[in-house]
Amino acid sequence: MSGDVVYIDSGMLRNFMVDVFVGVGVPRVDADICAEVLITSDLWGIDSHGIQRLKMYYDRIKQGKQLPVTKISIIKDGPTTALVDGGNGMGHVVAYRAMQLAIAKAKEYGTGAVAVRNSNHFGIAGYYVLMAVKEGMVGMAVTNARPAVAPTFGVEPMLGTNPLTFGCPTDEEFPFIIDCATSITQRGKIEVLDRLGEPTPEGLVIGANGESLTDTKSILKRLIDGTAALLPLGGLGETTGGHKGYGYSTLVEILSAAFGGGPYLRGLAEADRDKKTPYRLGHFFLAVNVSSFTSLEEFKRTAGNIVRQLRGSKKAPGQTRIYTAGEKEYEKQRERLKTGIPVNPNLQRDILIMKNELGLNEYQFPF
Ligand SMILES: NC(=O)c1ccc[n+]([C@@H]2O[C@H](COP(=O)([O-])OP(=O)(O)OC[C@H]3O[C@@H](n4cnc5c(N)ncnc54)[C@H](O)[C@@H]3O)[C@@H](O)[C@H]2O)c1
Repeated sequence: MSGDVVYIDSGMLRNFMVDVFVGVGVPRVDADICAEVLITSDLWGIDSHGIQRLKMYYDRIKQGKQLPVTKISIIKDGPTTALVDGGNGMGHVVAYRAMQLAIAKAKEYGTGAVAVRNSNHFGIAGYYVLMAVKEGMVGMAVTNARPAVAPTFGVEPMLGTNPLTFGCPTDEEFPFIIDCATSITQRGKIEVLDRLGEPTPEGLVIGANGESLTDTKSILKRLIDGTAALLPLGGLGETTGGHKGYGYSTLVEILSAAFGGGPYLRGLAEADRDKKTPYRLGHFFLAVNVSSFTSLEEFKRTAGNIVRQLRGSKKAPGQTRIYTAGEKEYEKQRERLKTGIPVNPNLQRDILIMKNELGLNEYQFPF
């Protein structure tokens, strides 16, 4: 194993992920979906949600916490709505199929909204939003997650990092996609800091007395035992708008649990009790067909003009560039398709464990 970060071709890593999923019983067609979502995350530069999470899914499947074969049932179906049960299968597959269903409804009736219950971690919400965007639609994807975030004026981890993700097409080479948690940081980013052996910056996580915590390893443990909490977007208290992130996170929790009748808030911590109890996560997907309102071309032009005007506006002293959401991911993808995906020593170790346990000897990694 190398002591350094090494760069591996994204196609090779994607194939490896497919083979790992297949190796633990995921059907090939579903393994392809899971690997595609994970490698997209790596290509977009979201290292917290790509191949770094592979071992987590691998372990969960082996422990029987989530099922490798995803059997989805449609519990309720209307022209523009559906309620889907993910059957404790692969979250990526459940989310992919749910967004496909929302898109199909939006193609026919202008809009499609699909609520999901009994699912698992689905990775980056932006992937599913992009599915709608590619079809000339506005997309939205949200999910709840294990409790980690304290409400404003509270210290107890109650809400998940609950991404609230929207996207729409523009007339540029890349869409507008705002894809992020409703907390300042999210568990995956703290896991990345842990892998890098770095402290967590001040002001992101609080302890049981409201004090700022920075010891990354202990934060990860304390998030589970409930003695540490992430702060909502906007931070501590009301002064910098913490109540706004708290409100958006609550909305995500409601959309993810109330339509489907699934667990919420600390009810989602039940899964931490043992290695077998499923997460029973809820998601919600929306696809809105732009051409139901206006021509796609006109919508794209307006959206494009908006993002261009923002980027072209006056810069703060010392800043040379203003970005719009989706731009950095587009640039990172172009870069990483050439350079490959960075694989740090901890991740190298995980990859070798899976490779050896599954006998995937055809993969010759340079570590
Ligand atoms: N499945 C889950 O339970 C779960 C939970 C939380 C987060 N996530 C995923 O984790 C990923 C990362 O989330 P995060 O909260 O760390 O995101 P983040 O803080 O890295 O923000 C990313 C978003 O901000 C935009 N952005 C970045 N810099 C910008 C700038 N200067 N100007 C304008 N826009 C800018 C990006 O284009 C992107 O849309 C997302 O894909 C999210 O869906 C998943």
